[in-house]
Amino acid sequence: MEKEFLTIKNNALSMILDAENNKELDAIRLQFLGRSGKLTIALKDLTKLPDDEKPLMGRVANNTKNVIEDAINRKENELNKKRQTNFIIDITEPGIKPPLGSLHLVTQAIQEITKIFEHIGFTRVRYPEIEWDWYAFEALNFPENHPARDDWETFFIQQDPHPKYGSLVLTPHTSSGQIRQMENSKPPIKMLNIAKTYRRQSDVSHTPMFHQFETLVIGEKISIADLKGTLDFFVKSYFGENRKSRIRPYHFQFTEPSFETDVSCGVCDGRGCKLCKEGWLEIGGAGMVHPNVLKNCGIDPEKYSGFASGWGVERVLMMKEGIQINDLRTLYANNLDFLTQF
Ligand code: DAH
Repeated sequence: MEKEFLTIKNNALSMILDAENNKELDAIRLQFLGRSGKLTIALKDLTKLPDDEKPLMGRVANNTKNVIEDAINRKENELNKKRQTNFIIDITEPGIKPPLGSLHLVTQAIQEITKIFEHIGFTRVRYPEIEWDWYAFEALNFPENHPARDDWETFFIQQDPHPKYGSLVLTPHTSSGQIRQMENSKPPIKMLNIAKTYRRQSDVSHTPMFHQFETLVIGEKISIADLKGTLDFFVKSYFGENRKSRIRPYHFQFTEPSFETDVSCGVCDGRGCKLCKEGWLEIGGAGMVHPNVLKNCGIDPEKYSGFASGWGVERVLMMKEGIQINDLRTLYANNLDFLTQF
């Protein structure tokens, strides 16, 4: 019996020594220690021995089992280590790239717009996204209950109105930043306010949340020529040197005179095509700050004048050559197939 255990041990050890991988080692484990393995069967035979031989044989059997188990474990470690070492030193193996995100299309546009205006001395500011009626409408020269307020399709917050500032709204336009800015600082002012704006509209060309960028320049002898020059600089920097800009008369409560601002169509170069119809694409409103607005902010309209403009980030982004988005809502649908293209 003792010899039988010795044979099992020697056979097992030499096979373990030769094993080249974990699969072979598993097969050896099964062959000796498995339910019908050689050692398991031999152990069962122990019961048949006379009682006085049992203790000694028991010890031999145990020792055999421990030695084989030990050898298997050691070999297993050795094989694993070898695999890891091979992996580390294989410098030719290509690395694994972690998935990298990118900035959202609209964030990229905001950064680009900011750089263009900073180049000509504007400072970017941020003001509250939830705003009092005073800042969104009243101080901007909208008379109470004036129908023009409907054009902004504003979201109102359910809260009792403030005795002085009125209802709370989600900023329907970045023009509220003009009032905040003039309250906060004295002329000369060169403000760029880029922010989220909210209106109750949702279709192919509207999302309930969108972004505007607002300029405000206040100083002595600021004229329409400054407005037109700034518009032109932006249009050429953002859309390209060959694009032209123009202003057309319009009406806004908070500017006098007021304008719509256009950029020449990039597809037909201003001649007129299916996209633009008449050669021009509208980018938003602008005008000379109304004297009442200056007065509401404690600025003397006899001494100072200024211009302001409010244009759409998504709008200019879509108009920029090469980017075709048929439904504006695609921008905010969180579809990675779309977003990872940019
Ligand atoms: N706030 C206007 C809108 O949301 C756009 C606008 C028009 C802004 C004229 C201005 C401006 O600063 O002077 O439609």
